[in-house]
Amino acid sequence: MCGITGYIGYRIASPIIIKGLERLEYRGYDSAGIMVYNQGKLEISKTKGKVADLKKILSDKIHKEANIGIGHTRWATHGEPNDVNAHPHTSNSGDLVIIHNGIIENFNSLRKELSKRGFKFESDTDTEVLINLIEDVKNNNNCKLGKAVQIALNQVVGAYAIAVFDRNNPEEIVVAKLGSPLAIGISKDNTEFFIASDASPFIEYTNNAIYLEDQEMAVISLGTDIKMYKVADDSQVEPYIQELKLNLDQIEKGGYDHFMLKEIYEQPRAVTDTYRGRLLANKGIIRVAGIDDNIEKFLKAKRIIISACGTSWHAGLVAEYLFEDLARIPVEVEYSSEFRYRNPIINEGDIVIAISQSGETADTLAAIKLAKEKGAFVFGVCNVVGSTIARETHAGAYTHAGPEIGVASTKAFTTQITILALIALKLGKAKGVISQEKYQSYLYELESIPEKIEQLLKQDKKIKEIAKIYKDSPNFLYLGRGYNFPVALEGALKLKEISYIHAEGYPAAEMKHGPIALIDENMPIVAIAPNLKHYEKVVSNIHEIKSRKGKIIAIVTEGDVDVKVLADHVIEIPHISEAFSPLITTIPLQLLSYHIAVMRNCNVDQPRNLAKSVTVE
Ligand code: G6P
Repeated sequence: MCGITGYIGYRIASPIIIKGLERLEYRGYDSAGIMVYNQGKLEISKTKGKVADLKKILSDKIHKEANIGIGHTRWATHGEPNDVNAHPHTSNSGDLVIIHNGIIENFNSLRKELSKRGFKFESDTDTEVLINLIEDVKNNNNCKLGKAVQIALNQVVGAYAIAVFDRNNPEEIVVAKLGSPLAIGISKDNTEFFIASDASPFIEYTNNAIYLEDQEMAVISLGTDIKMYKVADDSQVEPYIQELKLNLDQIEKGGYDHFMLKEIYEQPRAVTDTYRGRLLANKGIIRVAGIDDNIEKFLKAKRIIISACGTSWHAGLVAEYLFEDLARIPVEVEYSSEFRYRNPIINEGDIVIAISQSGETADTLAAIKLAKEKGAFVFGVCNVVGSTIARETHAGAYTHAGPEIGVASTKAFTTQITILALIALKLGKAKGVISQEKYQSYLYELESIPEKIEQLLKQDKKIKEIAKIYKDSPNFLYLGRGYNFPVALEGALKLKEISYIHAEGYPAAEMKHGPIALIDENMPIVAIAPNLKHYEKVVSNIHEIKSRKGKIIAIVTEGDVDVKVLADHVIEIPHISEAFSPLITTIPLQLLSYHIAVMRNCNVDQPRNLAKSVTVE
């Protein structure tokens, strides 16, 4: 995680870098720092805390003239978040400065080696080791910064996106990438260059960007073209400049108090964008290019393995129900972090689907690499266009949700389910396991989802009232069955993430094997009980809660009678089929956790200890 950014050009660098860091703060916010080069001097400011804290310590005087600089927002891995461990880090001579996203795994042995040669270290970080390694190489080879970075990186094990500056050559920044993302924005006339973990810091200045591939590096010099090389052998690489479709509105709050709320409210639009051009309901057609191009493989698939983390893993669990139910393909859903180390059995004809909003999650990326090594066909479901996972997979489909900035994932979840539902329906139809009539009615129903989400969003006020009653509860239990069991997990995760209330999601029937012991008159239980397949069973579970005096917040289908008489609060959802119900039942749970977190004065968009994009394992 961590966000890195930098600027070389003719404008004053520090405001661009600071604004860039604010946009990258979703990647980590334990500490922040900036370096600008100003008339022969390196001016470095860094502090524990958020970018807002960094802004407070930047005096008005410094940084005024500088047109070159780098900045960093940190999610601590090595060394606690404090001022010393904050980036940028400087080499012993004071000439070289670095910002780094990633982990240098062999930093301990490198540190010992460098210590023997007289290097001193102030911080506990792997990054300070790397910058001194670069300095050592530079001194020993009497070479330029670019060459020193290239040689040093060949001695490093781990992941990195770095930007390095040398005071002796102040019109140049050297960048390199392995495992962590790095983009370079380029102004049309080559007079300005922007460095960033993603395009958000520079999108208002330019749409032209280069995304470095793993083990590529670039030397960015003022007034010349970017020179790119392979880290392995220093051979030159032709830069590939892409034109980005992103615009500024998409990465701003647009009048909402928080990105999370904006993203919850964006879901009708986001789901529509996911199926736009893919779902042609009145023609009875589903088109998903990545599936259409590989349809034979999917039709022959003996098994689908889904690999993901966090909320994406929950979407994978919903997909398990969808694929087994609608397309009759056996599915296993794996935590990427477990799958990658388990020596999993992957047979010919197995397909691996990797789900990732960011497309950068390190464990999911490693799971993909493993699956590819074992010969599997790997399909990606990502939101971020051009992300590493999107590039590493054999084929894939984007969710087109637009940038998701709130750390707690919302629209990514519903759009992942939408694309996975389209794929399951398409395969079910192609395999002939779903009747034409059912297929057609599903297509029309999918088209109606955005409107149904709108209907639910109108109940926001009511959900806020419920949040007020339970905001101080220390524990919550979320129960659901079938398709709505993953929704219970997701509801509990949202509450934990942003309000720091302990919450557990459980399949409703499992409650009696443990969690029922927790129920008393103080325990709020969110029961997802739409009038679907498991309705009667869930009603029985609700009776069991009621007789133990638990407080019941129930999600029910409009017109419900049985649960209404038992529950303390009901939130009504429109009629919906079992298969698509997670797209609807999840909305009130997002709003409930949002309001509780706001009422508890929690930082909704940047919850403690979390990061949006987890690029370390
Ligand atoms: C982090 C985020 C979660 C996300 C998970 C997986 O933990 O805070 O919101 O669900 O990573 O991320 P991905 O980008 O792979 O979906």
